[in-house]
Amino acid sequence: MLMSSSTVIAETRSLVKSFGSGAARIEVLHGIDIKAYESEILMLLGPSGCGKTTLISIIAGTLTPDSGSVEIFGEPLNWKKKSAITKFRALNVGFIFQQFNLIPTITCEENACVPLLIQGMSMSKAIKHARVSLDQVGLSEHMKKRPNQLSGGQQQRVAIARAMVHKPRLIICDEPTAALDAENGKLVMQLFRDLVKQPGRCAIVVTHDNRILSFSDRIATMNDGKIIDSVATKDFDFAHHQ
Ligand SMILES: Nc1ncnc2c1ncn2[C@@H]1O[C@H](COP(=O)(O)OP(=O)(O)O)[C@@H](O)[C@H]1O
Ligand SMILES: [Mg+2]
Repeated sequence: MLMSSSTVIAETRSLVKSFGSGAARIEVLHGIDIKAYESEILMLLGPSGCGKTTLISIIAGTLTPDSGSVEIFGEPLNWKKKSAITKFRALNVGFIFQQFNLIPTITCEENACVPLLIQGMSMSKAIKHARVSLDQVGLSEHMKKRPNQLSGGQQQRVAIARAMVHKPRLIICDEPTAALDAENGKLVMQLFRDLVKQPGRCAIVVTHDNRILSFSDRIATMNDGKIIDSVATKDFDFAHHQ
């Protein structure tokens, strides 16, 4: 389902990023230009190690590039102002990490509250929102459990509930369905679809999972630190990616 909107939600220009120093310095992003538009689910494909996680971490403000820029809703991210970025993310970005990054010592509903607490909401109010979000991902019976009492797929759904609890305008997910079975994978994609239907929103989803590609509006392919292709899903060559 390709929407006709052309409002840009997130845009990177000439992003370059290296890791290491001296002789061991390796450039992993070689100048990335990418746009994510209102109301779309943009999927980012590419082999392991090509730079997908690095790219979305820079867009989400958790990593600083060597050069280049990121604009979200037309505002440039300023990586030097950490507190501003933290606040911006708590208000606008839902990030689902590849390793989930749940806090092991607290319950699932407390984990799902975190973005709201950073915004300054009271615990009792935040818990109410967290329960709705956990219910949406099918975890209403597990809210009082700690992450290590759940399966990998359930933990991932807690991470998804946490990323959506504050109804972010930009949702960014690193392999959201890697630990989910087909049915739950579809459920999660439907949640992203419902979210991006609301005005001024989009989702950027990194995936290896061919089963969910058809839920996207556009597919960008990365290889070796570059975007090599970006097409509407209806024009994507599925035959070569099965
Ligand atoms: N913190 C880091 N320090 C050094 N190298 C890193 C770091 N993070 C990622 N890399 C390297 O950068 C490259 C891209 O990694 P990544 O963005 O995680 O790729 P992908 O998500 O596509 O698998 C890989 O070669 C990886 O080893
Ligand atoms: Mg990765």
